[in-house]
Amino acid sequence: GAAELGPYRHYMQKEIFEQPRAIADTLDAVEAITPELFGDGAYRVFKDVDSVLILACGTSYYSGSVAKYWLESIAKIPTSVEIASEYRYRDSVPNPRTLVVTITQSGETADTLAALKHARSLGMKHTLTICNVATSAMVRECELAYITRAGAEIGVASTKAFSTQLVGLFLLTLALAQVRGHLSEQQELAHLKALRHLPVAVQAVLALEPQVIAWSEIFARKENALFLGRGLHYPIALEGALKLKEISYIHAEAYPAGELKHGPLALVTAEMPVVTVAPNDALLEKLKSNLQEVRARGGELFVFADADTHIESGEGLLVIRMPEHYGVLSPILHVVPLQLLAYHTACARGTDVDKPRNLAKSVTVE
Ligand code: G6P
Repeated sequence: GAAELGPYRHYMQKEIFEQPRAIADTLDAVEAITPELFGDGAYRVFKDVDSVLILACGTSYYSGSVAKYWLESIAKIPTSVEIASEYRYRDSVPNPRTLVVTITQSGETADTLAALKHARSLGMKHTLTICNVATSAMVRECELAYITRAGAEIGVASTKAFSTQLVGLFLLTLALAQVRGHLSEQQELAHLKALRHLPVAVQAVLALEPQVIAWSEIFARKENALFLGRGLHYPIALEGALKLKEISYIHAEAYPAGELKHGPLALVTAEMPVVTVAPNDALLEKLKSNLQEVRARGGELFVFADADTHIESGEGLLVIRMPEHYGVLSPILHVVPLQLLAYHTACARGTDVDKPRNLAKSVTVE
């Protein structure tokens, strides 16, 4: 009801603003990196595995896609990420020494539960879930678990569940890195320090809301949008496009920045804003020259720039600068303005933000 919403117009806005608290709660019990954060016996399991298979749907699939970059670069463990409904229906080659990781806010998504059972039926017995509901079917089914503490998420479009999943997945990366001999004590302390500073860093990003609102007024008049990201931020671009689609009903798609010239550039006109997530200066120069060709047709770049880039707003280029550069944890900061952009664009279009048409919070049918 209205009392619960406090100063916010919708649950989604409230949940976006709860992220500093949700992240702090998710980290609350973490004193040091140890496999036991994931349950008794986790050390033995982590010692026994030589690859990771992530299974999830929707927004949870995108947090898994970020985690693949972390797991391969920090823990040096081969990782694949699969959409649960695809994985369960295709023939694949099982490796019994795989750690199967499901990611789910609700813990009840039918496709993700079925994908887990499918993996197990193929002989993969090591299972772990990153889940927001301790009493869910998924937590009961898995050998190991990390419970995110986002609290109840009511808005159909997931926000605080996503950022806390990323925190859980980063902890998993560090624990696997440790067991595999890729995490010095010094590195552990540095990562823990960065994690603990996240709530403050996210708070500073939330303060960009007025600048994002100004952009949302432009987006509300568009029917298409293109999101570009690279590396760790490509899944963030995908998540930004998903958020915009889900609640504002604007057609949005995301591409790895380097692919722009291989197709989507043909779509760019004044009617197609191009959102760029976390580019470095060199990449932005390339994008600018790519877009030069379409500038005559009005192509416009909306850039969420890192604190340490030198990009300035100019013709056909609008910049919102992030308050801090956050290294490998940067996706957790960069997703926040994209959530706000989708939210305010949807508000400007007058859609039912918390209950978008045709969508359900938790899909318990296959
Ligand atoms: C639905 C929701 C999404 C969510 C997806 C996966 O489609 O609308 O917000 O990302 O299910 O849900 P889960 O609970 O498994 O994370």
